[in-house]
Amino acid sequence: MRTSLAAVMAAIAPVYAGFEEWHPPGPYDVRAPCPMLNTLANHKFLPHTGKDITREATANALFDALNINKTLGGFLFDFALRTSPSPNATTFSLNDLGNHNILEHDASLSRTDAYFGNVLAFNQTIFDETKSYWTDSTVNIEMAAKARHARIQTSMATNPTYELSDLGSSFSFGESVAYVILIGDKDSGTANRSWIEWLFEHEQLPLHLGWKRPPTLFQEDDLSVYMNQIQNITKALEEVSPAARRPGRRSSSHFGW
Ligand code: HEM
Ligand SMILES: *[C@@H]1O[C@H](CO)[C@@H](O)[C@H](O)[C@H]1NC(C)=O
Ligand SMILES: *[C@@H]1O[C@H](CO)[C@@H](O)[C@H](O)[C@H]1NC(C)=O
Ligand SMILES: *[C@@H]1O[C@H](CO)[C@@H](O)[C@H](O)[C@H]1NC(C)=O
Ligand SMILES: *[C@@H]1O[C@H](CO)[C@@H](O)[C@H](O)[C@H]1NC(C)=O
Ligand SMILES: *[C@@H]1O[C@H](CO)[C@@H](O)[C@H](O)[C@H]1NC(C)=O
Repeated sequence: MRTSLAAVMAAIAPVYAGFEEWHPPGPYDVRAPCPMLNTLANHKFLPHTGKDITREATANALFDALNINKTLGGFLFDFALRTSPSPNATTFSLNDLGNHNILEHDASLSRTDAYFGNVLAFNQTIFDETKSYWTDSTVNIEMAAKARHARIQTSMATNPTYELSDLGSSFSFGESVAYVILIGDKDSGTANRSWIEWLFEHEQLPLHLGWKRPPTLFQEDDLSVYMNQIQNITKALEEVSPAARRPGRRSSSHFGW
């Protein structure tokens, strides 16, 4: 009886494990400066503790929740591993990602700079500045470029220790692409603003607002195409108001691998 009931349930509501579950972090759980990894931990696609995350767990979580190519998920894990304080680590914890100037960088979209405070915690003041550049209910790459550029301008003007390495800059371009393309639509390069805001502000997938797991696999090429686009738009913005002291590479390579 139990088996057939489960089969019926699965037939009416086919869901991937994790979409239906969501719990905020408890007092001993750790979280990252990354709104998406935090979200995936809250949904238990990643360990809810946020600790000791393996390569396989990372690639599976990104695939199961977001349809990201598992090879690409593995690459991202390799970057995450660099932030672990243990020399021969084979796992990372979400708070490791906050170690400043490895992957974590200044001018984030929703976190304050390390100079000012806690880079792991969502910061409404910072995020309000970012949101002010999402000037339509549908967010596109140009708006994402302007928001990113503005955050850099603000950090440069206010943070005496402001720094953005080439890797930090590449990551930051990648992050702006990721929220548009993975919350939104790969073909149009746009996303529903309320879905993006929900993700950042609640660290929950905006399923109840109509978001669905992307229907096609997100590949390294998709990342390249949109990174070129946002870097191109940014170049034009920088001609008007120079930004990064150490601007990121502008070739088609990304994340420097
Ligand atoms: C293993 C995979 C991933 C790793 C290691 C990772 C790592 C990071 C790190 C270290 C940051 C902080 C950068 C900063 O200082 O602002 C970050 C931010 C961010 N990540 Fe992830 N991330 C991963 C996957 C994703 C995915 C799949 C998305 C999809 C939407 C995403 C979206 C973002 C966004 C939008 C930010 C910017 C947050 C902000 O600027 O406030 N990340 N990520
Ligand atoms: C995933 O990406 C890798 C490297 O880019 C590629 O070789 C592989 O074919 C992709 N996998 C799928 C299923 O498309
Ligand atoms: C890390 O690995 C290297 C190479 O295998 C080894 O020489 C070194 O002792 C290891 N370090 C620790 C702390 O385990
Ligand atoms: C949020 O960011 C602002 C601007 O950097 C900073 O002044 C404020 O202290 C931050 N808030 C918290 C709670 O860290
Ligand atoms: C965005 O999502 C909201 C649900 O939060 C929906 O009401 C709205 O119509 C969507 N907007 C667009 C442009 O699709
Ligand atoms: C970059 O921008 C120029 C015009 O500013 C345009 O001609 C070119 O096609 C753009 N390239 C990409 C990859 O978007």
